[in-house]
Amino acid sequence: MQQKLYEHLTACGQEHLLAFWDALNEAEQEHLAAQINSIDFVQIAELYKRQDESANTLTLAEKACDPPGYKFSTVRDPAPCKTPKPITAQEAVAAGTDALNAGKVGFVLVAGGQGTRLGFPHPKGMYPIGPVSNATLFQIHFEKVLAIARQFGYKTPYCIMTSPATHSETVHFLKGKNYFGLSEEDVFIFCQGTMPAVSRDDGKVLLESKNSIALSPDGHGGMLAAMTKGERSVLTQLREREIEYLFYHQVDNPLVRVGSPEFLGYHILNGSELTSQVIRKQQPADRVGNIVEVEGRLHIIEYSDLPESVGRQTNPDGSLKIWAGNIAVHIFNTEFLDRKSRAADSLPFHYARKKVPHIDCQNGKFVQPTTENAVKFERFIFDLLPSAANAVVVEVDSPNHYAPLKNASGSASHSPEAVRRDISAMYTAWLEQTGAVVQEGISIEISPLFADSPQAVAKKMAVGQRFEQSVYLRD
Ligand code: UTP
Repeated sequence: MQQKLYEHLTACGQEHLLAFWDALNEAEQEHLAAQINSIDFVQIAELYKRQDESANTLTLAEKACDPPGYKFSTVRDPAPCKTPKPITAQEAVAAGTDALNAGKVGFVLVAGGQGTRLGFPHPKGMYPIGPVSNATLFQIHFEKVLAIARQFGYKTPYCIMTSPATHSETVHFLKGKNYFGLSEEDVFIFCQGTMPAVSRDDGKVLLESKNSIALSPDGHGGMLAAMTKGERSVLTQLREREIEYLFYHQVDNPLVRVGSPEFLGYHILNGSELTSQVIRKQQPADRVGNIVEVEGRLHIIEYSDLPESVGRQTNPDGSLKIWAGNIAVHIFNTEFLDRKSRAADSLPFHYARKKVPHIDCQNGKFVQPTTENAVKFERFIFDLLPSAANAVVVEVDSPNHYAPLKNASGSASHSPEAVRRDISAMYTAWLEQTGAVVQEGISIEISPLFADSPQAVAKKMAVGQRFEQSVYLRD
């Protein structure tokens, strides 16, 4: 085995991976050999070579204009959207409701990655974030999907993407919680792929230990390959269930309105293959990906790639020209995903320079880098936007849709404290819309099984109810 591996690796300049082979026991050798055999070293060499090619983002940015979009009914911002085809909120809600009633909508939650910034020693979905209930992110999301299943009376498929770092704990946790009320046969847990980290200096694949390659998740764009892998792939099973629309969301945002009929309706009535929720940027440099239109196609320009001169451009009414900030809530047509999964190179790789601890193959010592020593390769799901027909955005308001948990407690933004505050603020506003009086300083939380909108809350509350203590409203 060693000779064959050696020849294979030498041909790609990666033979250092066998530096400690003779010191490994049989199981360790098998582990390393399996990792080596799973890697496409020609692709890695190609990616490394191309990393310094300047991306075409500058050209894109120069040609960028505002994307076609609809405004969600809770948006109060008067700044205009370039609307492709007039659709009222009522029409959208009706179309989305029809699709849900017909059982055509499935759900996918990406819960992979590594959650490095949060620093929580478990999958992010297990983070207790409910401001009163301490419900985990998983519980909140599962209850939202269960609420849809109950309301529209169908077996809602819920696909959960994990990473090698989160997979077994997630499987164990969700099973232990009985999928929060969903049926096991409706929950599809699948693991994303990985890519090796390479040395920034010479493209050599890094070893994280003497018998293990430094692998990291291949980005949320890994969903496309992972969902379509194998004969009975997750996507195949969704299509067998006649799921036409897939609602995509990320584990870190507890405010997402899962399966919102209005959002679905804009997608369906506009004949779109991919629709994305966006929030209106307040400042040109806001740290969100910018969805723009370039020559009739939608693209995302990362905030770090948007030239200041372009980001600052304004419309005659003073509003930002590049205004649409991606919040990673999408609807995909399943037929579109199927088609893209068959095309070569549907999603490009992006490069991230990171500090990756590794073993020095010369002396076997563990290296804890202090500067970015490695390059990682990742795919992003939003890179499907340019190839989607009639792609469109829907502007939503941040307080009712977006509060991502990214950073550790005490951080300046996207911390657990900030997210709990945002959850409570949204539900407080929902109660106040029913005429309730909520005392300042208390926390309000509503289970998705109790109500999914202010209108649904209103149906369950007496007018003018007073809240003087923190409360978790649930059925
Ligand atoms: P982030 O980009 O915030 O990454 O993911 P992360 O891994 O959660 O956290 P950091 O950057 O290491 O601190 C946004 C969403 O995409 C999912 C995450 O689970 C989260 O829901 N994701 C990210 C994946 O599923 N796979 C990946 O490879 C990366």
